[in-house]
Amino acid sequence: MQLLQRKRILLGITGGIAAYKACELCRRLRDLEAEVQVVMTPAATRFITPLTLQALSGRPVRTDLLDPAAEAAMGHIELARWADLIMVAPASADFLARLAAGTADDLLTTACLATDAPIAVAPAMNQAMWRSPATRRNCATLAVDGVLLWGPGSGSQACGDEGPGRMLEPQELLQRIQALLGTPPILAGRSVVITAGPTREPLDPVRYLSNHSSGKQGFALAAAAAEAGAEVTLITGPVELTTPPGVTRVDVTTARDMLAAAESVCSGQVDIFIAVAAVADFRPASAAEQKIKKAAGQQGLELSLVENPDIVATIARRQPRPFMVAFAAETENLEANARSKLERKQVDLVVANDVSRSDIGFGSDDNVVTLVSREGSETLPSMPKTALARLLMERIGRHAKATEMPATKRHAKP
Ligand code: PMT
Repeated sequence: MQLLQRKRILLGITGGIAAYKACELCRRLRDLEAEVQVVMTPAATRFITPLTLQALSGRPVRTDLLDPAAEAAMGHIELARWADLIMVAPASADFLARLAAGTADDLLTTACLATDAPIAVAPAMNQAMWRSPATRRNCATLAVDGVLLWGPGSGSQACGDEGPGRMLEPQELLQRIQALLGTPPILAGRSVVITAGPTREPLDPVRYLSNHSSGKQGFALAAAAAEAGAEVTLITGPVELTTPPGVTRVDVTTARDMLAAAESVCSGQVDIFIAVAAVADFRPASAAEQKIKKAAGQQGLELSLVENPDIVATIARRQPRPFMVAFAAETENLEANARSKLERKQVDLVVANDVSRSDIGFGSDDNVVTLVSREGSETLPSMPKTALARLLMERIGRHAKATEMPATKRHAKP
């Protein structure tokens, strides 16, 4: 998904039945993290209320050129300068005529006259009005003036007519806005490997050692990496989650399976490796072939455990190696322990979380993390794992870019 972070869009709404579609457009723009300032003409307010658009845009709607209170907050010239794009949807025949004539008799036309930003209009009107010589003439003038004419589409109209004059659907307008303003996805062309979930270390055919990892954080990161344009392989222990769209999933059970899968995937080109999995540090020295029985009068059972391979440290020793990110599940001294893992495992970044809390960490929907690198640390506020994953992918993409060098030169430290 191509985000519109920090892009400022002045959404102009003029009077027409298609005005209701502007609500959807406004909402979708906000979903893509654009800042949206709605300006409505008086006629538009007869079709939908400014209150609706205020709730959807998160800002008071501007309707009046001569409103002293609103002008004190952001004057009309300031508003015109603020915008990265003026998108007028729907654009009525009357609005197109006024825009073509260069009039400045309301806030929207004034902002259009005063802006240096691109102006896009999505015409919406009756088919006969669209075909009329006056509208043809106005559109020709607007095209010469550099105004982007997006649509209209053709089909059945609210008035019962058939023909050209339908406003383009919000989704299509959104795609055009993304093409115009969107930055290329931060991980386009990158390949990312993520480990997630728990591992299970068998004791006998029916029992195993494991932990409470649900896989939520790792799956959210896989979805966010795919959204950010990466080619994603998700190596996961046993979890009850569906694979995010566009992600290649490899299911494993034990730590040794996970290492084998990671080594196999990393034998090809991998740019970023993110170890979210809660890998069992130890496994039973041997798994009993039959179910372990409790003998009569038996008071206890001694288990002999051996160390599992460290997956993230093993991949970090490869030459060349990906940009390496480890998670750290801590219950105390979060940052100090994370920093020690950064060195011990020779990774580039550690994402530390406090797993002693029940509201974050294992199994929860939210998380709080501290990013620890050799350059410093940053603690992010509590948020859903899905939102955190997007933020983390943006941070990881930035860190990876900052340390970027040809993969062949990126060696683990001795
Ligand atoms: O799955 P959820 O319910 O959403 O919970 C998310 C989480 C709490 C599991 C996740 O946020 C997290 O903290 N993952 C790391 C869990 C962990 O095993 O931490 P650790 O501090 O023990 O290990 C440090 C790093 O080494 C981790 O990146 C781990 O994947 C890796 N490791 C550990 C042991 C091992 N044998 N091989 C490894 O690669």
